[in-house]
Amino acid sequence: MTAPAFSRAPKVIPSILSADFARLGEEVEAVEAAGADWVQIDVMDGHFVPNITVGPDVVAALRSHARTALDVHLMITPADPFLEAFAQAGADILTVHAEAGPHLDRSLSRIRDLGVRAGVALNPATPPAAVEYVLDKCDLVLVMTVNPGFGGQAFLSSMLPKIRRLREMIAERPVWLQVDGGIAPDTARACREAGADAFVAGSSVFKGDYAANIAALRAACA
Ligand code: DX5
Repeated sequence: MTAPAFSRAPKVIPSILSADFARLGEEVEAVEAAGADWVQIDVMDGHFVPNITVGPDVVAALRSHARTALDVHLMITPADPFLEAFAQAGADILTVHAEAGPHLDRSLSRIRDLGVRAGVALNPATPPAAVEYVLDKCDLVLVMTVNPGFGGQAFLSSMLPKIRRLREMIAERPVWLQVDGGIAPDTARACREAGADAFVAGSSVFKGDYAANIAALRAACA
């Protein structure tokens, strides 16, 4: 799968953190069939965040189940030693945290050198200025609207001004402004109004009727 072409049309992106980990391949197929634009895989190391999830081998295993793009969110530190492994595993987008190491510019350049779209994520306390000098070296900026590590947390509405500011900073660049954490129809609408165009959702998708949940998110972001 090649990475998706850029557009500001809203993207609904299920995060598999809330999926059934005993059936991840089937879950990826199910949310894609239910209308997901692409799928996010949350990688956690128990050090950068207080939880542990999956590594490159699971991304590689899911690659054959996914028709859309695999958006790999690296909540790990350091991230640089693992970029090639995740690219080889089939990631189409690799997002590193601005807080994960001292050389964000180099990390983003390395990701692009690997032929993968480059994303940078900001934890709630990290200001937009952290990405000011790398907006021409990334394809996606991810605003965490919860403190990363777990699904099902409450949305931080204090992030809305940050989303608005990043919308201004990104301006006309082909850079997705992605939000992640507590995203449901009501919070997705607020984030869309603030300027977001990519919506990561776990617990509001992986329950009951996946297609209805994705449709509700898409309607909220229209
Ligand atoms: C949190 C993860 C999110 C999480 C979202 O650390 O990065 O992707 O899975 O889950 P919900 O949508 O339930 O907040």
